Amino acid sequence: MSKRKRKILRERWSSHWIFLFAAIGSAVGLGNIWRFPYLAGKYGGGAFLVPYLIILFLLGIPILIMEYALGQRMQRGAVGVFGKIDKRLRGIGVNAVFVSFIICVYYAVVMAWTLIYFFHSFKVSWGNAPKEFFFTKVLEMSSNIRFLDGINWTIFAALIAVWVIIYFCIWKGTKSVGRVVLVTMPLPILLILILVIRGITLPGSLEGILFYIIPNFRALLDVQVWNAAISQIFFTLSIAFGIMIAYASFNDKINIKKDAWITAITNSVISIVAGFAVFSTLGFMAAKQSVPVAELAAEGPSLAFIAYPQALSLMPYAGLFSLIFFVTLLSLAIDSAFSFVEAVSTVFSDAFKRISKKWISLVICIGGFLCGIIFTSRAGMYFLDLFDHFATNYGLVLVGIFECLAVGWVYGAPKLRRYINRDSDWKLGKWWDFSIKYLCPIVLIYLIIAQLVIDLTKNYGDYPNWAMLIGWGVVLVPILVGVIISFWPSKR
Ligand code: PFF
Repeated sequence: MSKRKRKILRERWSSHWIFLFAAIGSAVGLGNIWRFPYLAGKYGGGAFLVPYLIILFLLGIPILIMEYALGQRMQRGAVGVFGKIDKRLRGIGVNAVFVSFIICVYYAVVMAWTLIYFFHSFKVSWGNAPKEFFFTKVLEMSSNIRFLDGINWTIFAALIAVWVIIYFCIWKGTKSVGRVVLVTMPLPILLILILVIRGITLPGSLEGILFYIIPNFRALLDVQVWNAAISQIFFTLSIAFGIMIAYASFNDKINIKKDAWITAITNSVISIVAGFAVFSTLGFMAAKQSVPVAELAAEGPSLAFIAYPQALSLMPYAGLFSLIFFVTLLSLAIDSAFSFVEAVSTVFSDAFKRISKKWISLVICIGGFLCGIIFTSRAGMYFLDLFDHFATNYGLVLVGIFECLAVGWVYGAPKLRRYINRDSDWKLGKWWDFSIKYLCPIVLIYLIIAQLVIDLTKNYGDYPNWAMLIGWGVVLVPILVGVIISFWPSKR
């Protein structure tokens, strides 16, 4: 088929704005209001903002520009893009899609918890014992990763609901996605603004805000802070997931550099603003209970389900604000989750043109649900923590390294830059070639080795050895499958 004909047959965004809405919708998700604040809390508040911003400009934006350019230039999903550079590089796309599948599977489980909290918001059911409510009532968590203790049927049912919603958002491809993102992109932004205004007008909020914005430069010497910043940038920009490549492949001609900047800056502004909502509210609670903000903020992944809901329960109209908070989480998450299904179904429909995309998406959603069942067990939270650690700190970062090496050293960064600059009024300078060819891979390799040293000296989260084996499997299986597919003989 000629290049032109393939271009005509390929799905298209109905407008440039819809593409931008969908890309921003994918980037802005739970990563902004769930992951970003808990990382900021864990790594000393303001201290986290500095590496976060440095990594955003140094690595995040150059790689996002690269993914937009690859998708639009090659008119294919992640596997096809790298396969077009060199058949043996297909594995990079396979690796990307596999890692994002793992992430999406547990992401949907966090959405399921959110859905449960949404229903509890009307009565503010967690009252003044949010910790017990989360671990005992909602998760019914077992005492150790060793004890699965059966399925938690409420989470199981909520997970089915989440996947059904995801499916109906994308079943008509870019057409239905285009319609849904018109609501799911702007609505949470509006709701976050309401939560910020509520937060900063509470007594005691200033202490929380100061904790959030004053950097502690000593924390910058800790390599873990830098690793957390890198994995957060990859996660939050949806890069190395294959998502941005797929989305850009439905464009003919966009201003790549400008759109990448708009996506990245909007996303980070939303994270930072959401941080104000969370930390001002934590400051209010810290003042009320006479505990340090740092202690409340250091709760990790459960911050959004324990400390924040508790703070909400202490304010007037608690039910209303809880409802706003959980609707915000859900509407933020949904367009990220379906962007993943869209990315994978794009890869499969590139390969199997005869099968309708509706069916492909259905199979992906059912597969995602089935694989998610382990996280609905009573040990689900431990597994989620384990999978998140390995998939984001290693899986995504490795895909990032492979992508940069493929473009920088095989395809040629200057060649892709010339393509980007062809339709661009904002020209991309030679610094970008340097960034993709040397800077990104070197920084990423260095940090991944540093993380490896930490993880090889001590089991992550003090989990047993067999759990570590599963964790390493999360990293190695996608690479192995990628290598096998790269060397699998194909017709052409
Ligand atoms: N960028 C998304 C976020 O910050 O929440 C990350 C994401 C997760 C995208 C899971 C897609 C996905 F399936």
